[in-house]
Amino acid sequence: MRNILVTNALPYANGPIHMGHLLGYIQADIWVRAMRAMGHNVTYVCADDAHGTAIMLRAEANGITPEAQIANVQKEHIRDFDGFGVHFDHYDSTNSDENRARSEEIYIKNREAGNIAVRPVTQLFDSEKGMFLSDRFIKGTCPKCKAEDQYGDACEVCGTTYNATELLNPRSTLSGATPVEKSSDHYFFKLPNFAEYLQKWTRDEGRLPVSIANKLDEWFENGLNDWDISRDAPYFGFEIPDAPNKYFYVWVDAPIGYMSSFENYIKNKRPDLDFNDYWKKDSQNEVYHFIGKDIVYFHALFWPAMLEGANYRTPSGLFVNGFLTVNGQKMSKSRGTFIKAETYLEHLNPEYLRYYFASKLSDKVEDSDLNLDDFVQKVNSDLVGKVVNIASRCAKFINTSFDNKLSATCAEPELVQSFVDAGDSIAQAYEAREFSAAIREIMALADKANQYIDEKKPWALAKQEGQEQQVHDVCSVGINLFRQLAVYLSPVLPTLATQVQDFLKLENFDFASGKTVLVNHEIAQFQALMQRVDPKAVAAMVDASKDSLAAAAEPVKVEKKKEKKAAPAKVEPKVGEAEIIGIEDFMKVDLRVAEVLDAAHVEGSDKLLQLTLNVGEAEPRNVFSGIREFYAPEDLKGKLVVMVANLAPRKMRFGISNGMVLAAGNGEGVWVISPESGAKAGDKVS
Ligand code: 2FM
Ligand code: ZN
Repeated sequence: MRNILVTNALPYANGPIHMGHLLGYIQADIWVRAMRAMGHNVTYVCADDAHGTAIMLRAEANGITPEAQIANVQKEHIRDFDGFGVHFDHYDSTNSDENRARSEEIYIKNREAGNIAVRPVTQLFDSEKGMFLSDRFIKGTCPKCKAEDQYGDACEVCGTTYNATELLNPRSTLSGATPVEKSSDHYFFKLPNFAEYLQKWTRDEGRLPVSIANKLDEWFENGLNDWDISRDAPYFGFEIPDAPNKYFYVWVDAPIGYMSSFENYIKNKRPDLDFNDYWKKDSQNEVYHFIGKDIVYFHALFWPAMLEGANYRTPSGLFVNGFLTVNGQKMSKSRGTFIKAETYLEHLNPEYLRYYFASKLSDKVEDSDLNLDDFVQKVNSDLVGKVVNIASRCAKFINTSFDNKLSATCAEPELVQSFVDAGDSIAQAYEAREFSAAIREIMALADKANQYIDEKKPWALAKQEGQEQQVHDVCSVGINLFRQLAVYLSPVLPTLATQVQDFLKLENFDFASGKTVLVNHEIAQFQALMQRVDPKAVAAMVDASKDSLAAAAEPVKVEKKKEKKAAPAKVEPKVGEAEIIGIEDFMKVDLRVAEVLDAAHVEGSDKLLQLTLNVGEAEPRNVFSGIREFYAPEDLKGKLVVMVANLAPRKMRFGISNGMVLAAGNGEGVWVISPESGAKAGDKVS
């Protein structure tokens, strides 16, 4: 038996849980349940990530204290996780005494080890609000292309990266005031002290998905920088020891929340566990963090370095999931696909979603799509049509004709044994987080069970005289097969598993318990286990999401209105109003047909897709295109597009963009321009 501590990324305490969050939480919960079903000792904790400027400002906009804000949100988060069967052993908050003490301790140990530096930093300061502004709270005109309304770190129009101090006409998005430059001391964690250690750590067996370790190599090659871990007051967080008015940046105490949540779990509920058994250096117990791919940097670099610097153990592994799209596109409030957990639960059974996600998830860092039509079809066909159907076809005979008792002997020992034998490979698939493979195996067994019942036709046998024993035997085999399926699905469908356990009057429902065949065994009266998904309920959920999110965004809207006044949105020239150019200017533009070989989301950008284009040259081109909001990567793959092939390469925050893809846009949508079929990659467009 292994001792394992599992955590999920801590959700920020300033907004509701939505479908995108749930992918990672459901993934972790399934894994925890599966590992327990295999007999391991697993502790599963989480907490709200309660600190930072965003939460402070959200509380201000809501007219409440940050403490009240985080308490309200924590209640909602716990309610939502509970609703989806995501069952943490303990759910805490990073704003706890234990987290403060642990953060201070880890900081001081690092300071004593020479891993902290202090130096002045000049930043933009909002004198009206009396606070320093991070890049996301500053907007202005791009110093390069003069596009208006650009954030303080990079221009989303031309891709140039810059310091906020270089923006033209900068303004604070909080007050509209013109920020001024001001210097203050900042505290830095000396990440380069850990460069060698981390380079090895990230390559340790099982620590990280290989694709992520490869990505990290790029960062190592570019060199690691000191990490700014302090923020000046006002800031909602923990004050740094011996540094009045300086606060730990939220990402310092957030992962330490994994430790303090576990500590509070022990304090409140499990005094038999020992914190040090899990966190001391060289502990043989295992610690795994389930995280989204957008926060790998923090978990694979800063977090292990902070722990190593403070002489604690580091995580055994990071399990990284991709993003979620809904109907092939980024979740959208206007399309009603930005679905809150709460809204889903008002309309649909949570186990449908758990099953659908499980059927999609693997150990790869890939994005998953929640296609709502496919969701309805898959749940109805697999769970209702295949699994639950087995029980409803067999149980009624056992209930009505055989006094609720299964046959005294198993009529198909080989068939039942083949279901038992499949358990090992299903368990292995769960352990490797290859949930989609586990589901495929389970559904193949369900097909086999249905085939058996179809062949034996107990309903027809029941009408024939002298066939009672046959009916009894066939239905008893059917119930045994159904029980195996329910055991194997139990990590994914815990509520269904409990219902089946009650129906079959079983004391135990772990994977090992499924190895004994049920003979001469009494069962309860069969009750309907799962309803079909009603497409109307899905449509109603989408409709409700359109409304609910407009309301949820209200406090932010107030700020946005102010922004609009300070800087009117950029207006495209009307047809006929654009600057006139000669044919010679136009001829300078080399337009080519390109084939999209690959398309992928760009980590850290809401707007960009990274396209790999075949333009008929020896090497494919890399192009960043601001169409993420409008296209799912898979919809572009294989498509022919038109590109400007002789545009000077542009260095963007995410790499070099070598060309530009043409698209039409009218403020409401963007449509990539595609030639008629017949054209091929490299063809000139004129
Ligand atoms: O990205 C986020 O949503 C963060 N709140 C995750 C924190 S995970 C951990 F480090 F606390
Ligand atoms: Zn620009």
